Amino acid sequence: MAKHIQVHWRVLRPLLFLLTFLGLVTYYFYHRSRPPYQLYTTIATTETKESNKLIGNSRGHKYVKFKQLRGAGFNNQAQEILLYHHLALQTNRVYVYQPLIWRPRGEKAAVPLSAFMSGPTKGSINEEVFIQVCPEGEVTHVQLFSGDYETQWAHAKSVLEGNDRCVVVDDWIFNWNFLASSGTHSIWPTFQKYLANHFEWSSDVLRIVDRVQNALNFRNKPSSKDRDSYVALHLRRGDFEEHCRYLGETHTGFTTWATLPLISDSILPPTLDANNATSVMEHCYPSLYRTLDAITHQVRSRPHLRTIHILHDGAWDHPLVYLQYYKLREALMDSEWAEQAGWAGGPMHRVTQSADAPKVWGEGDWAVCVDVELARRAEVFIGNGYSSLSTQVVALRLGADSGRPEDVTLV
Ligand SMILES: *[C@@H]1O[C@H](CO)[C@@H](O)[C@H](O)[C@H]1NC(C)=O
Repeated sequence: MAKHIQVHWRVLRPLLFLLTFLGLVTYYFYHRSRPPYQLYTTIATTETKESNKLIGNSRGHKYVKFKQLRGAGFNNQAQEILLYHHLALQTNRVYVYQPLIWRPRGEKAAVPLSAFMSGPTKGSINEEVFIQVCPEGEVTHVQLFSGDYETQWAHAKSVLEGNDRCVVVDDWIFNWNFLASSGTHSIWPTFQKYLANHFEWSSDVLRIVDRVQNALNFRNKPSSKDRDSYVALHLRRGDFEEHCRYLGETHTGFTTWATLPLISDSILPPTLDANNATSVMEHCYPSLYRTLDAITHQVRSRPHLRTIHILHDGAWDHPLVYLQYYKLREALMDSEWAEQAGWAGGPMHRVTQSADAPKVWGEGDWAVCVDVELARRAEVFIGNGYSSLSTQVVALRLGADSGRPEDVTLV
């Protein structure tokens, strides 16, 4: 009988050990990646409090609520929110903001906007308070689509300049086709100033950026003299291969600010031909050789610039991106390769990636904002004209910071 139990024990012990181990690993990953729900609730409550305060002393205010994108990536939503907020300010209306949708957690996973950007929520009100100040009976519903991308912005402005106190826009004007068209060009002159005056990250984002810059010894603006100046490279892979093929088939060009004439000299030759699917692929999903060419173009004659930070989307569902990162790293730190590529001053001294940024548990949602801000502050930025993250970086560098287009290369 005793022997019998012993046999069981021998089988059970490693099994129990394995189960405990798996349990601990699951617990670790669950808690590490768990968003700070309590903080989000507090922030949402503060948003409502601030919105109520604003309507309390705001006789004569006019309001506008837009039909916004729900889902897609953070930067797709952020770019649209910034355009709508700008449009509201241009037409003297209080912007009614909506939460962001955190798609990796589902179509309904809302997170409060001011946890990420505090610009668009300042002087604005949230949806909850909008319903009180503008009950449905007092709302005027409008459509803003003009039928022509070139006149879209001007037309939207003329409609919103009307006297109706509470306006709800029922159509989605800043759709993908509009954002890839030259319709955005007429917005740029004022949008540039808007970014300089109104773009603002939340204090959480800025706190993490500071910590990361300290830890990685990155300069906090190109003009300062302490710490290392660095290149930021945005390697957009992940789900992009399939997406780029689709963009090739539909003859789609670059998005938003990458289409601006002022950035056209920053595009690594050959010129994009949206009617040629091979050309679209070349720019949208560039080979690692082409990516290295873009880096060479920027650093060959800047021997002081030997630190590069690579923002990429490698994750458990896209593990091969890490492999590409290590391939790039290998080449960039190889003196023979650097010599062949004509780099005065030798290869890169330091190659880092997004994952090297020290983050505390629960900070995962902010990683994308930290990437954008680090790329904004880099001496040189190399990005992808099809990506909303890259084009957001371009807008902040050239618009908010009056940076030089020569310091940007789009592959
Ligand atoms: C299409 O683009 C590729 C890549 O740039 C180029 O090699 C090819 O000649 C182009 N084809 C045409 C018909 O222009």
